[in-house]
Amino acid sequence: MAPEQSWWQTAVVYQVYIRSFADGNGDGIGDIEGLRAKLAYLGRLGVDAIWINPWYPSPMADAGYDVSDYRDIEPSYGTLDEAQSLIAEAHDLGIRVILDIVPNHTSDQHVWFKAALADDPGARDRYHFTSGRGDDGSEPPNNWQSIFGGPAWTRVADGSWYLHLFAPEQPDLNWDHPEVRAEFEDVLSFWFERGVDGFRIDVAHGLVKVPGLPDGVDPSVDAVPHSMLVFGDQHPAWDQDGVHEVYRGWRAVADRYTPERIFIAEAWVSSNERLARYLRPDELHTAFQFDFLRSPWRAEKLREVIDDAIGSAASVGAPPTWVLSNHDVTRTVTRFSRSQPDQLVETDWERARWAREEPDHELGRKRARAAALVQLALPGTAYVYQGEELALEEIEDVPDDLRQDPTWVQSGYTDVGRDGCRIPLPWKDTAPPYGFAGDPAAVTWLPQPDHWAPHSVEAQERDSASTLSLYRDALELRPTLWRDAGDLKWLTAPDGVVAFERGASQCWVNISTADVDLPHGAVVVLASVPGVETTLPVDTAVWVRTE
Ligand code: BGC
Repeated sequence: MAPEQSWWQTAVVYQVYIRSFADGNGDGIGDIEGLRAKLAYLGRLGVDAIWINPWYPSPMADAGYDVSDYRDIEPSYGTLDEAQSLIAEAHDLGIRVILDIVPNHTSDQHVWFKAALADDPGARDRYHFTSGRGDDGSEPPNNWQSIFGGPAWTRVADGSWYLHLFAPEQPDLNWDHPEVRAEFEDVLSFWFERGVDGFRIDVAHGLVKVPGLPDGVDPSVDAVPHSMLVFGDQHPAWDQDGVHEVYRGWRAVADRYTPERIFIAEAWVSSNERLARYLRPDELHTAFQFDFLRSPWRAEKLREVIDDAIGSAASVGAPPTWVLSNHDVTRTVTRFSRSQPDQLVETDWERARWAREEPDHELGRKRARAAALVQLALPGTAYVYQGEELALEEIEDVPDDLRQDPTWVQSGYTDVGRDGCRIPLPWKDTAPPYGFAGDPAAVTWLPQPDHWAPHSVEAQERDSASTLSLYRDALELRPTLWRDAGDLKWLTAPDGVVAFERGASQCWVNISTADVDLPHGAVVVLASVPGVETTLPVDTAVWVRTE
């Protein structure tokens, strides 16, 4: 008999971008009280777990990914007691809680970095401080570029330089330092003791660098900053073998706890084979596979990406993972609302190019709904980014003076960054703040558009054909139809149509330019547009039973 599956191997995980989820105190910023008040909504949606983006004290140079204290809660989000209540209340509803740990860098306001700047003995060794190049040391120590733009080095008052792969306010830690390793293992225990079920690991492939921090040598790669993806394993900052020893230590910490505690890696590496190395039995449990998110709306690519993800996860006994979007990339609706490339989308940092084409959001919405049915029928774990269940689009016209993402400034105002996928959620009413904050006069930290009334939770709850209703129906059916349905088998289908079977259920999606007939005798259980019976329209997906 096959061993029983753990919850995380088949879970639907809902990503809570806490700053923009729900505001409990009316300051225009989402918080723990807001999230607690909406737990029932998540229970009703039917998700198995939530992953909460960083909620620790932070000066917010990068929306919380610059952590100044790993053992507390950001005051504008709430308190440790509130966090504790949230974890308990989520568990009461059967929802697991996954936090986000940021080990590659701290905030420049972390006590360790302040001590380093004060030149306390030994304090600089926890980071990467070194002297510059050139006669007077005024050139950065190597040619590395920050993901957000510009050199990955900043010079301090005494003339030395420190490394930051992201913003200058996010100095990279030196993971060869034993105190750094010990500190993070202790932080993991701190939260495990409080009942947290696991961690999503930020920039999991970045911690260990090639000793001596040599130049990146491939000019085509070094000429393209702003992307973790392009660098892959071809750059001395990424995906080095030494990082695996760190995760073996973390796994030993997690394994001390019952019930099971788990890790999910965010690792932008060059192939699923490289990714599988993070998932060896004594390392991490699972990792985001991003090719699904990068796939254009094209049948052959979708099939290729699905096969590759399943195959490489299986090679290390891990479940495949399916992500359509997150807080770092253009929302799915908008990605599918423009002409589709032939290849995987290179990087989301190509926003400027995309934005030149007028989006057709209704088309994007139709495709996003179909993509959701494909995602939720696949074996393994699915991640739903808040607002996907409402089919929200990217807001591409945030006024320049209200932009928050450090990418905007660091790219020299050429890349608008990620604010457009982080707009506070619309819950009800017909105008901003759409119930995001209890106080109707609240000013949200990023402005909401004027046209979101039809997309609010309240409006969609009234409409059985809404995207929210589709997600609820899909998540209700998923345990019976798909959760334990076993391996995927491709079905023969017309050109441009992707069809697969798992157990007694099938998923069909039409990415061609003409309607197609469904197989004789197929019973449609759920469709991404209402009214589908025997003919599958373009840009539509269905779940069918064959017995
Ligand atoms: C997170 C980003 C963040 C970066 C630096 C990522 O991959 O998802 O939102 O800016 O790490 O911490």
